[in-house]
Amino acid sequence: MGIELTSPFDLGDTDSYLRWRDKKLALAMVDTNELIVEIKDPTRVTESECNALLNRCHHCNMAIYASDVEMDERMLRDFGAQFGLIQLDANWLADKLGISRITVSNPDNQRQTYIPYTDRAIKWHTDGYYNPPERRIRGMVLHCAQNAGIGGENRVMDHEIAYLMLRDENPDFIRALSASDVMTIPAREDEFDGVREAQTGPVFSIDMQGHLHMRYTARTRSIEWKQDAITLAAVAQLEQILASDSAHIHRLKMESGMGLLCNNVLHDRSAFTDDPNNPRLLYRARYLERVVSI
Ligand SMILES: [Fe+2]
Repeated sequence: MGIELTSPFDLGDTDSYLRWRDKKLALAMVDTNELIVEIKDPTRVTESECNALLNRCHHCNMAIYASDVEMDERMLRDFGAQFGLIQLDANWLADKLGISRITVSNPDNQRQTYIPYTDRAIKWHTDGYYNPPERRIRGMVLHCAQNAGIGGENRVMDHEIAYLMLRDENPDFIRALSASDVMTIPAREDEFDGVREAQTGPVFSIDMQGHLHMRYTARTRSIEWKQDAITLAAVAQLEQILASDSAHIHRLKMESGMGLLCNNVLHDRSAFTDDPNNPRLLYRARYLERVVSI
């Protein structure tokens, strides 16, 4: 068994990068419908359903599943496990299983302090950007149990494509965003840990298996970017990419029974208005692992 010595994410190895880039763009799915896989029983996916989902995750870091089965948290846990997603990163608002119910909380509930539990828009981010490195979120399932009356769409983008666009523009953007002191989330009380310490770290990092990880939020408050010209230019370029009409940005309104299985890709959420009789409900499971590789 050989050890992979080259990495497309090594800024010093342009050949590897260009080979990876060609393949990435050739296999990228720009039609959102191509990402969707219909599944019959989420707790026992068939071999072909599983392969279809894993194939999309392998090439695009995400897949969308659609099923008629009503799922609860336990079923969602069983669904994730079939793709190697086991270690849930539980936060203090998640239930005992470690899966969060994302729904609008009434105003006197503590959850209402946190944007996910409101009907407001959420800017582009990857999940757990405020986590310490040992709790890096690599995999995620976002399951729609009940869609909103109006709005509540998600935009999603493969973070490797965002990397590619930035590197094509200027490799120094990648260098700047890979610095270990580029992005600091100040100490505060947050959804995840209650009171948590400041977290300083890179946007882009490579894990032990050579996979690219991205830590990002487009929020402008409670974030400190390194104040040098190249960092600020890189951040501005990334914002421009995410605000563009690139075919690599998928827009989807998940219907009940649909969900996103992914390697913590970039995503956002638009504001929404609930149907009072059927309020929007999403289950969110965050994992320390990536979706298993094929
Ligand atoms: Fe999120």
